[in-house]
Amino acid sequence: MSQSQGQGPALDNLLTESRTFPPSEDFAAQANAKPELYEEAKADREAFWAKQAERLHWDTKWSQVLDWSDAPFAKWFVGGKLNVAYNCVDRHVESGHGEQVAIHWEGEPGDSRAITYAELQREVSKAANALASLGVGAEDRVAIYMPMIPEAIFSMLACARLGAMHSVVFGGFSAEALRTRIEDSSCKLVITTDGQYRRGNPFPLKPAVDEAVANADCVEKVLVVKRTDSDVEWNDRDVWWHELVDSQSDQHTPEAFDSEHPLFILYTSGTTGKPKGILHTSGGYLTQASYTHHNVFDLKPETDVYWCTADIGWVTGHSYIVYGPLSNRVTQVVYEGTPNTPHEGRHWEIVQKYGVSIYYTAPTLIRTFMKWGADIPAKYDLSSLRVLGSVGEPINPEAWIWYRENVGGGKAPIVDTWWQTETGAIMISPLPGVVSTKPGSAQRPLPGIGAKVVNDEGVEVPAGGGGYLVLDEPWPSMLRGIWGDEERYRDTYWSRFADQGFYFAGDGAKYDDDGDIWLLGRVDDVMNVSGHRISTTEVESALVSHPTVAEAAVVGASDETTGQGIVAFVILRGGAGADAGGADAIKALRDHVAKEIGPIAKPRQIMVVPELPKTRSGKIMRRLLRDVAENRQVGDVTTLADSSVMDLISAGLQSGKSED
Ligand code: PRX
Repeated sequence: MSQSQGQGPALDNLLTESRTFPPSEDFAAQANAKPELYEEAKADREAFWAKQAERLHWDTKWSQVLDWSDAPFAKWFVGGKLNVAYNCVDRHVESGHGEQVAIHWEGEPGDSRAITYAELQREVSKAANALASLGVGAEDRVAIYMPMIPEAIFSMLACARLGAMHSVVFGGFSAEALRTRIEDSSCKLVITTDGQYRRGNPFPLKPAVDEAVANADCVEKVLVVKRTDSDVEWNDRDVWWHELVDSQSDQHTPEAFDSEHPLFILYTSGTTGKPKGILHTSGGYLTQASYTHHNVFDLKPETDVYWCTADIGWVTGHSYIVYGPLSNRVTQVVYEGTPNTPHEGRHWEIVQKYGVSIYYTAPTLIRTFMKWGADIPAKYDLSSLRVLGSVGEPINPEAWIWYRENVGGGKAPIVDTWWQTETGAIMISPLPGVVSTKPGSAQRPLPGIGAKVVNDEGVEVPAGGGGYLVLDEPWPSMLRGIWGDEERYRDTYWSRFADQGFYFAGDGAKYDDDGDIWLLGRVDDVMNVSGHRISTTEVESALVSHPTVAEAAVVGASDETTGQGIVAFVILRGGAGADAGGADAIKALRDHVAKEIGPIAKPRQIMVVPELPKTRSGKIMRRLLRDVAENRQVGDVTTLADSSVMDLISAGLQSGKSED
């Protein structure tokens, strides 16, 4: 198989890893998911999904579970009607749980707020009334560019309540990245804050919105929550949240929408410079988000305190902070800030404070905790933790074991959950009371899900074999397309194995001898930096948009903490000046990428080179650049148009490594 990306630390040890950890008898006995779930799904997949959909409240029942006649555009629960926000909020109040805390919100500076389901219902209703008063209605697009504060969740649910689509843009993205996303889906409203807390200090956020919408004619209003009390410039289209929302009625009657009514767009990186607006709809998405959250995390709404550390700017925040958990009547922690503010034990202090029992995070953070040292979690009482989750990238066995020992008390099962923005919800993961877990393996498709590892011809590889991960059956929370680009949707996911009708996930994977799946990282030009998807092309376009750069090639090199780190090779323009390759100029290039995309896309290292290695057809050979970036012996150069290029690169390297 052609594995074009470096695979990060996940592969250390992988071939020798053979430890397994069966669930304890006590855990298995009380688990939501029992072994029969697999049998049930296998016996009748559609009946199985219908049963999962019945966990929700439908105003009108569906007449058909799945319509796949227009593949690859699925329709699930055809003819059914529901309101997603009603399912996440109102029905819990109506069933007598209005006083249960939905959200224990913890602000970075130490402020906190407990929000009950009754209060959540009032807040979401007020926000829905406010949005409606600004002319937002069904199918309108609303951009949400906010830190992790309760109003961000109210805003998402208010959109869902009105049938409007939210497009949440991560608060760490730049004004430019925000602008392209707002314009691509013609957002009518932008919801933001004056500023946000990061590492103990307030930073302005609204100026990025001002810049992004300056020439965006689609945007009618900007709704601004006051979070940091920063000075802000005020424009005609701006409205303060506290002035508009607080005065609204706290009553709002939700309307039922078609099961296939669009719920949200979420942009993610593809292999070109233009991000893809992944489209999700209502009934199928909520069914699978809710089902997976209930079974994979074993949620008991009466007793558990759940915490997913993701940001709502990513799909994990959508499916496992907002829709899955709230549909299951969770009590959850939402934390605004960074994990080392004001100290490196902040997460464990929060676990202890709220008695968190289910904790879901990313391998990059686990590796960071490892670096900070086991003595830090050891200072806190973490005995409430009973299920741990991992998501976003392959988890290396060392990190997995460290997590189990130092966070999970040597006993909490770890669920390594594989899924994507496109899949909407978890697809591959052990069920914690059923499957004996293995450090570093996501193991098997959940009941109701079809996934396989296949070779180039689309034939399933045998136990012990490696290849590409495909999904061979439509699933309820699958994307319904890319906003405004049907062709790209067909091309990206469905053309590679068109004969078989498989969805191509873009990940390499292998089976072990038991047939369990081990994910091996991306096989396309998408990097995974701290669990965030960034395309090499996007960073290259940002670099060449700088006046000193003639050409750029970017690769993901393995990185001990972040999984992959971004390494750029640039050729400077003639006349760029003698200082163009100096430390200040390299810093300027890194800052330029941060401005174009966001700080998460800043290259870890920029190397100025005289040439780039290309094939005769002009394609950059990233494999060779990765060898350089990872300090390896450079591999086979026979297909290079000019085989002396690699010598030139090695001889002329000027390294611009920097740590921030
Ligand atoms: O490469 C896989 C990796 O993250 C990609 C999806 O990224 P995104 O859409 O941003 O969603 C991340 C959160 C769901 C996948 O194609 N990935 C995600 N989870 C895992 C993973 N790789 C290995 N193991 C996982 N558990």
